[in-house]
Amino acid sequence: MVDLSIQFAGLRWQNPLMSASGTFGHGTEMTGMVAFEKLGAWVSKTVTWEPRAGNPLPRIHETEAGFLNSIGLENRGIEHYIDHVIPDLRAAKRKRPETRVITNLGGHDAEEFARLAERLGGEDCIDAFELNLSCPNVDGGKLPYSTDPSRAEEVLAGARKVTKKPLFAKISPNVTRVDEIARGCEAGGADGITAGNTLLGMGVDWRRRTPRLATGVGGYSGTAIKPVSLRCAYQVASAVSIPVIGCGGIQCAEDVMEYLVVGCQAVQVGTVSFSDPSALARMGQDLAELLRSEGIETLSECVGTLQMPNSEAWRKP
Ligand SMILES: Cc1cc2nc3c(=O)[nH]c(=O)nc-3n(C[C@H](O)[C@H](O)[C@H](O)COP(=O)(O)O)c2cc1C
Repeated sequence: MVDLSIQFAGLRWQNPLMSASGTFGHGTEMTGMVAFEKLGAWVSKTVTWEPRAGNPLPRIHETEAGFLNSIGLENRGIEHYIDHVIPDLRAAKRKRPETRVITNLGGHDAEEFARLAERLGGEDCIDAFELNLSCPNVDGGKLPYSTDPSRAEEVLAGARKVTKKPLFAKISPNVTRVDEIARGCEAGGADGITAGNTLLGMGVDWRRRTPRLATGVGGYSGTAIKPVSLRCAYQVASAVSIPVIGCGGIQCAEDVMEYLVVGCQAVQVGTVSFSDPSALARMGQDLAELLRSEGIETLSECVGTLQMPNSEAWRKP
């Protein structure tokens, strides 16, 4: 019997598979399409203090190997989340206590992140918060806490003061040094790092001389970004001592294993759910079969087992 469970941030996760924020609604909308009991966790779309209308249309463009999006954190704000989503989450949690619920929060500054975490801190149906420090579609991706380790630290420290729930910092790949941003989050009290969000990208309809997204530039996700996201996850895992949740371009169980081997404790899966909402739940089964065929009994023994070329194992003939 293969054991897919994993322990981190003070919690047991029945498996390392999570939905990625913004690609699964708030979660409960997917009931009927997704076997939630098979997920390690589901992550809400980013919730902000005020309702946000998001960016003008068009804000999704499908490319050869992924999505460009510029949704811009459209959501109905925290009070709507409390009144209309939390009751569903409570019911879902009663039915499937093993599947963790993570609420993803987005603020303009450290004070707003803290206010959001405090407002939701008493909700037992939420197991952890993910702080979205990395949306490329707000303020042109130039939010200071996305790119400055000390501002990222400030955001985490502010939220840390108001809640005991685990805090995961979702960071941006669109910086020169992901490791420095991750260290800032760790210093601020993060319990884990999600690495990471979408890559800045652009599409153009050259005949019409127009960009594919109304904002011009947006966030790129899906298969094509996996090598970049995997590199970020590896660099972050090598730089911090808190757990890392890998995210970017994951399609199948083999991809999940790549992230675990470079040092991630868990993964999030996004774009593939648009073409196949059942893919994530199926990945758990595939993962168990993959481990069984390789003679591996526990998933945790695979985490961080990458052998770099200058290591002993690499030199063996
Ligand atoms: C349409 C769309 C909306 C997204 N919305 C959010 C969001 O609200 N908050 C967030 O933190 N990330 C958001 N993301 C980023 C994803 O959670 C994920 O980090 C990214 O897509 C990379 O993973 P993937 O290649 O598996 O999709 C969004 C991505 C897409 C494609």
